[in-house]
Amino acid sequence: MARAIGVRAVEGGNAVEVIGRDAPKAASLAESLGGGATVRTFGTVPAGDIVILAVPSASAAQVAAGYGEALAGKVVIDITNAFTQDAVGLTTTDGTSIAQEVAKAAPATARVVKAFNTLFGHVLAKGGELDVLLAGDDDQAKADTAVFIRSLRLRPQDVGPLAMAHSLEHVGLVMMGLGRHSGAGFNFALGVNILG
Ligand SMILES: NC(=O)c1ccc[n+]([C@@H]2O[C@H](COP(=O)([O-])OP(=O)(O)OC[C@H]3O[C@@H](n4cnc5c(N)ncnc54)[C@H](OP(=O)(O)O)[C@@H]3O)[C@@H](O)[C@H]2O)c1
Repeated sequence: MARAIGVRAVEGGNAVEVIGRDAPKAASLAESLGGGATVRTFGTVPAGDIVILAVPSASAAQVAAGYGEALAGKVVIDITNAFTQDAVGLTTTDGTSIAQEVAKAAPATARVVKAFNTLFGHVLAKGGELDVLLAGDDDQAKADTAVFIRSLRLRPQDVGPLAMAHSLEHVGLVMMGLGRHSGAGFNFALGVNILG
């Protein structure tokens, strides 16, 4: 996902910084992204206004907690899908979500947005104008995220407050179900059709 989002972010003219605990891997991704993408030491204050947590769901809150005040004032985008190992269930329960756990772990001034979890990375990488469902409590953070999403030639679709993040995690599960059972495989994207 870091690569798929990073490619579009560079194409959209964004300044991209790749941060990973494996420094050579991060440097290699930054180099392959081109567009002046840089690297930063894991755990230090990111340069960008928007920080995308492209890590497994089980690590997201822990990574946010580890960053602590380094995330103060940032828009933090949680892209995780909290699937059980067989991807037929969620590890989160009603009333919570990975995004809300990240919000609890991050400083109070960090504004957490759930986005991108309802797009497959390989589909994002193919290009095309796709819908990005997003949720968050801070209107300015969602507006900033929407601007970023549009720069990726994608369409932001706001589904409401951060409490909706759990529903977005369910949508991720629905996508796994479609991929397995619809007969079309995993080469698809969910979209919002606005009628009339
Ligand atoms: N793949 C998709 O189509 C897709 C779609 C929507 C959402 N997502 C979500 O996007 C997130 C990333 O998925 P992915 O497919 O890109 O996974 P991935 O290719 O396995 O990448 C995960 C990255 O997280 C890093 N990481 C793992 N644990 C970490 C920790 N404790 N601290 C710091 N970094 C850690 C890994 O670093 P190392 O290389 O050092 O291990 C790796 O760079 C997941 O939450 C997934 O649910 C994926």
